Amino acid sequence: MPKHFNEEKIINLINPAKDVDGFHPSSIGKMVQGQPTFIPATPYGIMLMLKHYNIETSGKHAVVIGRSNIVGRPMSILLSQNTNPGNCTVTVCHSRTKNLKEICLQADIIVAALGFPGFLKADMVKQDAVVIDVGITRVADASKKSGFAIKGDVDFENVAPKCSYITPVPGGVGLMTIGALMMNTYNASQLKTKD
Ligand SMILES: NC(=O)c1ccc[n+]([C@@H]2O[C@H](COP(=O)([O-])OP(=O)(O)OC[C@H]3O[C@@H](n4cnc5c(N)ncnc54)[C@H](OP(=O)(O)O)[C@@H]3O)[C@@H](O)[C@H]2O)c1
Repeated sequence: MPKHFNEEKIINLINPAKDVDGFHPSSIGKMVQGQPTFIPATPYGIMLMLKHYNIETSGKHAVVIGRSNIVGRPMSILLSQNTNPGNCTVTVCHSRTKNLKEICLQADIIVAALGFPGFLKADMVKQDAVVIDVGITRVADASKKSGFAIKGDVDFENVAPKCSYITPVPGGVGLMTIGALMMNTYNASQLKTKD
């Protein structure tokens, strides 16, 4: 959103019945309580992906890097809920976290959502971990017609061989985000039809 806009004010103006991004405090509050609501599209897409691939999350240690309202925070809440997928023990990391490498090395599941290309290196990931790369950053690349390449937060080439599952960038979480947003939009239209 442009800097001169007050993000909080704008979000509070959204009609919760049409809040397909799941950003309104009413949607977030319901999500925290486990009530049916619109879930922010990126964490929702990741939950759908974990379910689709039947990835065991119960009792696992999930480390979420990033605590934004649109990705890290809701992701950490969803993974900790008593649901399937869910039931993780969750550690939320951010820019003030100390010993991030040691924390990541304890993780069965890592969600990297910080916006720092190639941040998560192979020596920060334990063998057979599940790594979910949310990051999307444009990096200058003269070999591309566009002049840039899209990079994730994970050093994919070196991390992938250690993982049981890993999402690529592009072609991973970004696509799931679009799918989840479409699902929220469809569900909103159904609610409207019923009214
Ligand atoms: N794939 C998708 O569909 C999708 C959707 C949304 C966003 N994204 C991408 O995901 C990334 C994150 O997005 P966002 O909106 O959550 O970003 P954001 O609002 O900038 O939040 C970044 C988070 O990362 C933390 N962080 C920054 N540097 C760190 C470091 N060195 N170590 C540990 N934590 C650090 C920040 O900590 P502090 O809170 O302490 O500042 C903050 O909590 C971006 O690349 C964005 O483009 C992708």
